[in-house]
This record gives sequence, structure tokens and C-alpha cells, in this order.
Amino acid sequence: MSRKTAPPAPPTEVDDGDALNRMWGGRFSSSPDAVMEAINASVDFDRRLYAEDIEGSIAHVTMLAKQGIVTQEDAGAIVDGLDRVRAEIEAGGFPFDRGLEDIHMNVEARLAALIGPAAGRLHTARSRNDQVATDLRLWLRASLDRADEACRGLQAAFVDRAEEHAATVMPGFTHLQVAQPVSLGHHLLAYVEMIGRDRGRLADCRRRLNESPLGAAALAGTSYSIDRAMTAEQLGFDRPAANSIDAVSDRDFVIEALAAAALIATHLSRLAEELVLWSSAQFGFITLSDRFSTGSSIMPQKRNPDAAELVRGKSGRIVGALIALLTVMKGLALTYSKDMQEDKEPLFDAFDSLELCLAAATGMVRDMTVHEGAMARAAGTGHATATDLADWLVQEAGLPFREAHAITGRVVKHADESGCDLKDLALADLQAIEPRITADALALLDPAQAIARRTSEGGTAPGEVEKQIARARQRFL
Ligand code: ARG
Repeated sequence: MSRKTAPPAPPTEVDDGDALNRMWGGRFSSSPDAVMEAINASVDFDRRLYAEDIEGSIAHVTMLAKQGIVTQEDAGAIVDGLDRVRAEIEAGGFPFDRGLEDIHMNVEARLAALIGPAAGRLHTARSRNDQVATDLRLWLRASLDRADEACRGLQAAFVDRAEEHAATVMPGFTHLQVAQPVSLGHHLLAYVEMIGRDRGRLADCRRRLNESPLGAAALAGTSYSIDRAMTAEQLGFDRPAANSIDAVSDRDFVIEALAAAALIATHLSRLAEELVLWSSAQFGFITLSDRFSTGSSIMPQKRNPDAAELVRGKSGRIVGALIALLTVMKGLALTYSKDMQEDKEPLFDAFDSLELCLAAATGMVRDMTVHEGAMARAAGTGHATATDLADWLVQEAGLPFREAHAITGRVVKHADESGCDLKDLALADLQAIEPRITADALALLDPAQAIARRTSEGGTAPGEVEKQIARARQRFL
């Protein structure tokens, strides 16, 4: 590589010399008020971006050297220094300083302390505006990948349990009233589809966010002959962002990720609600494992589904993060405003919560004990097979569906008055209401029969459920 002559040192934002204001040097004649520092500082939370910040800086300075904007020697010193800063942060005890505002200035100031004036060349042809937009995209891209992997793990848990329970009969509900018998496996596979669409949204979001803001500088681009394609490639972006104003202005990628997270959280919350209901004494469908239950400090008999409740509850903060960011962004004239610093805490919190919820949901589904007897008994209540009698009257006795519906309604009423379920009526009782009903019809009123007959594509018959499982394994796992 050819040695370039050093261009004159660019002005550096970091000035820890004698200036009155540590950061902004010449322009300022007094230090910030303590309140100013408190409202302005983000390093307490954006220190999480340290690895992405250093990665972005290494890509940037490597490009500056290749373009002859800084010397190879200075670039080498900067890269080595950044590696040291990273090692210091990872070793713990790094002197994070609120007075330096954010992670970007903290890293740069430490670099200056370690390598001296060459550090001042790193911020050439760059601004914290394109820097933070880059860092956050890198961080979120990795988080989306982790969330996708966790979703896949949850789908795998559902598919495995569905396989075990393809023929397990349970009541299906509408309005939380017993509707028709279904296979438990079928019910669990519904979540596999929901999470599958969620993963599609994560992938969409990842694809759209994967453009490099680096080189947008403050907003207008730069007069240095930078190579944006090079930094984009080095950081694994698909391409440089097309418009420098847009590149530093928008946080739609954060909002989109939070929208995807909010939907996942909403799906998990519905699952959690079912686990809470199903594990209650009144349902008795499942027992959550000890690993995902808690006791009560006063009632020795209690076994509480706290993990499920917290999965349900945490959906509130994830949805809240989405609303927070929509609200932060909606009134901002282009380009960057400091309001946008408010993007990080909700984003970090939402993805931390999401990861925890996905892990808890996966653990609960994998570990839960299914009480097949209780599910089967419940499927035999609530006249769950009334539709099957009506369908038989159509298919075998040739009645119009509406008439079959009315007759079955009279049969249900009779069962209610006799204090029994539809399927427990004697043939004579049925025939007293509708003489065309035969013993064949009676056999259909067994819930297992009812599910076995629903062989339509995507339906609840165990054979159909097996097909869905095979397809889900191909599509998702
Ligand atoms: N800490 C800032 C943020 O999170 C970095 C960008 C600062 N840019 C600026 N022009 N003050 O948004």
C-alpha cells in the first residue's frame, strides 16, 4: 500500500485541552449547566452501541486511508487504538463520562487519550448523525437476527408438541364458548403460522434497513472523495443509502422493527392468556412445569403462571415503545433533531423484553404437561358436536342446512332440559324430534369422530394435522 502524505489535520470535535467547554471548544465560553448535561447525555444507555460504533469507525477510517484522505500510518494507529478501546470496554471499568454526552464522543475521547492527535482525523468526512444512524442499524440488524432465531425456536417447540398431540381432542372455542372439537396439535399449529408471518415481517424490516448511512455526514454529504460503497460492503450493508438527507433523518427502521416486535408480543400475549386459562383449576388442560411457575408467599397450595402473566404483561411495554417512537418522530422537520436520541431506550427495552418473552414462551410450551383426559372431557361438553348433527342431516338426510340447523337447535334445547350433553341423548330422544335421525348420526356425536371427519385442507382431522406439521417443518425449521 502506498504511503500518502498527511493532509492538514481536520478540526476535531474532541477538545480536552484548556478550553472552557470540554466538547465544543472555541465557540463556547462556559460549561453546560448540570441540568443540560443530565438531559443531554445518552452514554448511560447508548454505551450498548460501543461494538457497532467501533466497527463503523474502523470501516470509515480504513476507507479514508484507501482514499488518501488520511495516511495509512494514522489509520493504522486509529484502528489499533479502537481495538484497545473495545478491549477496555469489554474488560469492564471503562471510564464512561457523561460530560462527553454519548458513546461516540466517549470512544473518540478515549482514542485521543490512547493514541494522541492522530485520533482527531477519525471524524473527517463524518458526523455523529451518520455515525449514530449506522450504529443503530448495525445493532438492530443483529437483534432482528436473534429475534428471528428465537421465533424459529418457538415454532419448533410448537411443531414438536403438535406432533405429539395430532390426535388429542380438545374443545375449540369461539367467544370463549365451546364451539367444535379440534385437535390440540391443530390449535398449536395456529401459532406456528402466526410466528411464521412475524418472521416474514422481521425479514422485511431487515431487508429495508440494510443500507449504509455512512458518508451522509451531517446531512448534505461531504466534499472529501469518500467511497461509500466500500464502507457499506465492509459493514455488511447491501448498498449505501441513496439520499444523505434521508439517511440521517429517518428512524422508520426502528419503528418498523418495533411494529414487528409489537405484533410478536401481541401473539405471545394471546398464547400467554391461553396458558393462564388452561392451567387454571377450572380448565385443568395443562400443568406448567415447576421451572415456569411460582408459589405464593401466603397460600401454600398456589401454583401461579407468573411467566405467562409476564409475557402477557410485557406486551404492554413493547407496544408502548412503538407508540413512543411514532410520537417522537411525527413532528420532526428534516433532518436530525436531538429528539431522535429518544429512539434508543424504547428500542433496547422492547427487544430485551421480546427476547425474554420468546424464551419464556418456548420454555413453557416445551415443558407443559397436557392433561388429555380433561381436554377430552371438556370437548364432550357444551354440545360441541351440534354442527356435526346438522351436517349429517344435510349430507345424509338431504335437508337444507338452515332446516338442519333449526332441528339441531331443538335437539340441543332438549339435551339442556334433560341436563345432559347432546352426545349423551338416546336415539329415541333424537328421533322424537326428527324421525330421520339414525344410529349412524349418533356415532358422529363423539368428539373424536367429529375431528376425524374434518379432512378439508388446513382442517383439524389428525391426518390433515400431520400434513400441516410436515409442511411447517419444510417452511420454517
Ligand atoms: N447521541 C446522539 C443520538 O443518539 C448522537 C447524534 C448526535 N448528533 C448531533 N447532531 N448532536 O442521536
